[in-house]
Amino acid sequence: MSESTTGATAASGALRGAIGETLLEVRDLQKHFPLTQGVLFKRTVGHVRAVDGVNLTMHRGETVGLVGESGCGKSTVSKLLVALEKPTAGSILYKGRDVAKMGGRALKEYRREVQIIFQDPYASLNPRMTVGDIVAEGWSVHADVAPKKGRLQRTQELLDRVGLNPDYVNRYPHQFSGGQRQRIGIARALALRPEIIVCDEPVSALDVSVQAQVVNLLEDLQDEFGLSYLFIAHDLSVVRHISDRVAVMYLGSIVEEGTDEQVYTAPSHPYTQALLSSVPLHEPHLRGQKDRILLQGDVPSPADPPSGCRFRTRCWKAQDICAQEAPALVDRGQGHPSACHFAEARTVVPVDVE
Ligand SMILES: Nc1ncnc2c1ncn2[C@@H]1O[C@H](COP(=O)(O)OP(=O)(O)OP(=O)(O)O)[C@@H](O)[C@H]1O
Ligand code: SF4
Ligand SMILES: [Mg+2]
Repeated sequence: MSESTTGATAASGALRGAIGETLLEVRDLQKHFPLTQGVLFKRTVGHVRAVDGVNLTMHRGETVGLVGESGCGKSTVSKLLVALEKPTAGSILYKGRDVAKMGGRALKEYRREVQIIFQDPYASLNPRMTVGDIVAEGWSVHADVAPKKGRLQRTQELLDRVGLNPDYVNRYPHQFSGGQRQRIGIARALALRPEIIVCDEPVSALDVSVQAQVVNLLEDLQDEFGLSYLFIAHDLSVVRHISDRVAVMYLGSIVEEGTDEQVYTAPSHPYTQALLSSVPLHEPHLRGQKDRILLQGDVPSPADPPSGCRFRTRCWKAQDICAQEAPALVDRGQGHPSACHFAEARTVVPVDVE
């Protein structure tokens, strides 16, 4: 694909800014959905605290993995980041500017620069549109990204870049496999020359054999275009391969954060330790060395979270203080931040496992 037609030059990290520069800062982000009762006269009887105090930083060119069980608020974070939802409180700073205070033009530019790919490639593509129209759709709003003349060629180049036959431009989504549809979603995001792509469980719905191919494609595109990813998954093994840093989420907030190495070799929050212990190991000779931690009980309702530490109802280390004081996400000497009063590094999987 030539640079002039794909925008590779403009999209490269080198020209846009330095790799490692802070792009996005999320501060105490909250999203509470009202719980209503009644048919004719709706009244609010409570709130679902889907996201309840998330702090995250993303640098140019890096991948941050966001991991947690179903319902912990991962998709709500991603919708807040791409401005599909408005925060209840907290802020998202993009290149130092508060997204909530951005006016029309700046917000439009933000929406172009921060793209999303969804978990379900079947539901996220309009079945009545051709693949070409899907990939080119964003150009109707962001016309300056692709001059009208040459859009077909550009669409075909994008399809080619994500590993699809450019001649399939007039086909419909149902004529593609799950992995191929996810590639269409990636091409659609790429078409707008984003800085950041929020990947909301992009491989969870795919066969294991196809998952690695899609992850490899995302990694290649990151190198080529200097992209940053927020890569969401419910399983630590999926994000390990791709993430530079990992944030573990439980019931609306981040409970542990660190480099890939820190979180995998020295997890210090009991929830991270339990999640890691459920990661499947592919090396049969190492399986016996894994520390097995079985989590008791279900995730409490985000409409009525436990007082103090939210994990305390399932934690084997819980003490009185855990019900009274919410632990801050700070480094208590273990080398990286952990939201546990009694944070302590523990080896859960053998350290030489890749
Ligand atoms: N629009 C909404 N109105 C009310 N509650 C919502 C809404 N969207 C999400 N929720 C609730 O917020 C919580 C977090 O949902 P979210 O989809 O962000 O979780 P998730 O971590 O992405 O889960 P999964 O792994 O299943 O995708 C859930 O309890 C969900 O039911
Ligand atoms: S603060 Fe208490 S309940 Fe929470 S994870 Fe740590 S030990 Fe467990
Ligand atoms: Mg989700």
